[in-house]
Amino acid sequence: MYTLYHGNIVHTPKLGDIEILTNQYVGVDANGTIEFVKSAPDLQSALEFVTSHNEVSDREITVIETSDRKASFLVPGFIDTHIHASQYPNIGIGSDLPLLDWLNNHTFELESRLNGSKKGMALAKEIYTKVVDRTLTNGTTCASYFTTVDNETTKLFADIVAEKGQRAFVGKVCMDCNDSYPTYKESMEENVSNMRDLVEHCRHLEQKGYDRTLICPIITPRFAPSCSRELMEELGELAKRYDLPIQTHVSENKAEIAWVRSLFPDCANYTSVYDKFGLLNEKTILAHGVHLEADEKTLIRAKNSSVAHCPSSNSFITSGEAPVKKYLYEDGLNVSLGTDLAGGVEQSILGVARSSVMVSHHLAMDSENDPKIGIAEALYMATVGGAKACNLSNIVGTIEPGKKFDAQLIDLDVKGTNVDVFDIHRPHGNESTAELEKKLLTLLYKWVFTGDDRNCVKVWCNGKSVVDKT
Ligand code: GUN
Ligand code: FE
Repeated sequence: MYTLYHGNIVHTPKLGDIEILTNQYVGVDANGTIEFVKSAPDLQSALEFVTSHNEVSDREITVIETSDRKASFLVPGFIDTHIHASQYPNIGIGSDLPLLDWLNNHTFELESRLNGSKKGMALAKEIYTKVVDRTLTNGTTCASYFTTVDNETTKLFADIVAEKGQRAFVGKVCMDCNDSYPTYKESMEENVSNMRDLVEHCRHLEQKGYDRTLICPIITPRFAPSCSRELMEELGELAKRYDLPIQTHVSENKAEIAWVRSLFPDCANYTSVYDKFGLLNEKTILAHGVHLEADEKTLIRAKNSSVAHCPSSNSFITSGEAPVKKYLYEDGLNVSLGTDLAGGVEQSILGVARSSVMVSHHLAMDSENDPKIGIAEALYMATVGGAKACNLSNIVGTIEPGKKFDAQLIDLDVKGTNVDVFDIHRPHGNESTAELEKKLLTLLYKWVFTGDDRNCVKVWCNGKSVVDKT
C-alpha cells in the first residue's frame, strides 16, 4: 500500500519563513513515512517515479488528487501542546474569575466527577470521545493532554485516543495538596503507583502497535502549589527511570507566582522549583510562562525545555500577555501553542494561532519595541515548535521526506463556511509559479484569520486518514 498526494504545500521549516511549494507530489509509504516531496510534469511521471523506486505496482498506489480544489493546500497537522481533556464541558464558563478562583469554583469540581465509578466512567467516556473528535476535526494530529487525578478514566482516555488515531501524550494529573478542594487529590504514594500503572497500561498499547511516538505517558505534576516536595521528587525519579516527558504549568498568573514564592522561599523563582526536583529538561513542556523573569528564561533555555503559549486562555482568565516574540528571537526559547481547554475558549490551534497574533498586537499598542508576531511565527509555533516541545522534531511538524505524514487538507472554497473566496484571489491554473505562490499566501492569511474547522476537509495522522469530510 502506497499513497501519492498531489497539491500545494504550505509549511514553516524555519522560524519566520513560510515555505510555499506549488503542485507537489508527496509519496507516502505503507508505514506513513514521507518518501519524497517533488514536482513532476504530470501524474503519470510521478507514478513511474514511485514504481521505479519501490516494489509496488500502479494498482497498489492510492492517488489523492487535490488540484481540482483551486483554493486548497496541504499543511502539517497541528500540535496542541497544552490541553485539559477533562475540562472540555467547561469551555466558555468562568471568564469573570482569575486563575485560582476559576480552579476552585469550576475546575476541580468538574475534574473530580471523572472517576472509576460507573457514572464517572460514563461521563469520562462521553467527554474524552468528544474532545478527541473535536480536536481531530480541527486538524490537531498530536496533543499533550492533562486528564484528571483519576487513573481508571485516564487509562480509558489512552484507549480512546489510541483508537481514534491521534498522537497523544497522556498525563494523569498528579497532585497531593489541595486545601481549597480537599476531596480532589491523592496521597503521594497513590500518585506514584497510579503513574506506574499508567506506564504499564501504555506498554500494553505499545504491544498493540501504538509506540511512544503515537501514545506516550507523560509525567504531570499539576503545578507547584498542588504538589508536595516529596511528590515532585518522586515524579522526577519516575521521569528519569522510565525516560518520560514532563508537563506542568508555570508563571501563569501573578497571584499564583506570589503563592509559589511563599511556598518555596528556598527557590530563586517559579521555574527553579521544577528544576530542584529533576522536572526540568529537554522533554519538559511548561504551559503559559506569561510572566517569566530573566533568570527563569535563562534556566529554561539552558535546560532546553519548551514554553506552551496559551493566548486564548491567558486572555479568557485574564492571566496576561506573554511576550513570545522576545521569547522566540531574543531569549532563544522554543515556543509552541496550546488551547489550554477550558481556560482557553478555542478548541482549534488555528484559533489559538490567530489569538497569538492578536495578543502580540495588543502588546504592541503599549510598547515602544516591536512585539508583533505574524502568521509565519504563529504557524511555526503551531507545528514545528510543537514538534520540538514533544521531542518529535524528526517525526512531525513539516511535510518533508523522512517524516510521518501528519497533515491537513485546507480548502477555502467549501460551501457553507465563513470564507468567501473571490476570483481575484483564487488560483485558476494558468498563472506562473510566482503568481500562484502569491495567491496562496493571500489565501493562507484568509484561512488563519477567517477560517475554521469547516475548511479542514481531510486529516491524516501517521499516514492514515483520521478525518474525511468529503
Ligand atoms: N494551573 C493549575 N491547574 C491549572 C488548570 O487546570 N488550568 C490552567 N490554565 N492553569 C492551571
Ligand atoms: Fe492548563
